[in-house]
Amino acid sequence: MPVGLVTLGYPWEMHLSLNRASSTSLPELAPESMPRRNRTQEDPTQWCLRRLGHLTNIVGDLAAIRPDSVYEQGPWTALKEIFLATYNSWIYSRIVPNFFDEWYYIDPLSGPGLVRIQDTGDVIAGSAIIAAATARTPFTKILLAEKNEESRFALCERLRRLRELGVDMDFEEPEEDCNVLLRRVGNRLPSRGSNFLAFVDLEGMEVEWNAFSALLSKLGDVIVTFNTGQIQRTWGSARAGNESHARAMDKFYGGTFWEAAGSADDLPEIYLRALAATDRPRTTRIRIHRENPPLMQDILFAARRTRGDNPWFDAVENRIKPKVEALTDESVRQALDIMTGRQHTLDWFLSARSGPQRTLGSFG
Ligand SMILES: C[S@@+](CC[C@H](N)C(=O)[O-])C[C@H]1O[C@@H](n2cnc3c(N)ncnc32)[C@H](O)[C@@H]1O
Repeated sequence: MPVGLVTLGYPWEMHLSLNRASSTSLPELAPESMPRRNRTQEDPTQWCLRRLGHLTNIVGDLAAIRPDSVYEQGPWTALKEIFLATYNSWIYSRIVPNFFDEWYYIDPLSGPGLVRIQDTGDVIAGSAIIAAATARTPFTKILLAEKNEESRFALCERLRRLRELGVDMDFEEPEEDCNVLLRRVGNRLPSRGSNFLAFVDLEGMEVEWNAFSALLSKLGDVIVTFNTGQIQRTWGSARAGNESHARAMDKFYGGTFWEAAGSADDLPEIYLRALAATDRPRTTRIRIHRENPPLMQDILFAARRTRGDNPWFDAVENRIKPKVEALTDESVRQALDIMTGRQHTLDWFLSARSGPQRTLGSFG
């Protein structure tokens, strides 16, 4: 396991190491002691960096639980995990708790909580762990689904361990099926007073639009990692007359809209338009495309329009998106270095000018 001793450049981190099997909690990961509302604002970039730094210190601890249970993915994965970490810590969990009574993190394809990077062997935190650890104010509840039984057990044990280490969180036993979770949560959440952040990390077309739309009828933001390369294959076959693939496309898109696609590049665009049509007009698409080795992934983001016209949206669109989209070998390496603790600055990713918003007053 390529997790070794790492000391970061901050006094409070010097005593921590990745492989430490600690039985004591990490005060750095404890919930903030400040009251939920009107909390003074530490520089959000520093806060996010600090949390990611602490997280890299305990990944070795989490990896010692059911060590074979890791999700294998390419190095670009670090980019989507950083997108989730920064959106959650920088924007979502800073703002939403000021305006709602309850806020949920929903991860219908949650994996085992850790990702092993195929080319380098690095192990990094997966989406559910990242969401829990980078929440500026803990989610009311974390709601998960994972089809693979071993991954589900590993995820639960790792989240419990994270809680022992000081991350304040409440999570329910994961569902087995993503669509069951989406329908159940969609039916259960109230229409007012609650909000969600959903991270839908598709391998293919597991999520049915019908189930997703139950959740989308409630207030919340969605991040969808759209496996365009994979979906393209089903689309090509459906266009060539394969009826079962055409039915799969219908289920995924909630109708025959996909037939309007003239090229693979249109597939995420059409899905994004469908998300926008659920009263989420603030959308952006982040392309993670390259020819060699071939990679065609898209991160789709959709949010409701807020009373203050989403002043933070500019940060997503103009700062986070271009960094992720650059997708040079160097940017992927840097993202991975941040996620593994080899790099101790987010200046590359987030402007040193701190977060998109210094006060919460103008978010109303
Ligand atoms: C891309 S991986 C998730 C990675 C995870 N989000 C992360 O960042 O660490 C997709 C996961 O979905 C699971 N999965 C596939 N089909 C599913 C279904 N119908 N319901 C729930 N989980 C499913 C797979 O077992 C896999 O672990």
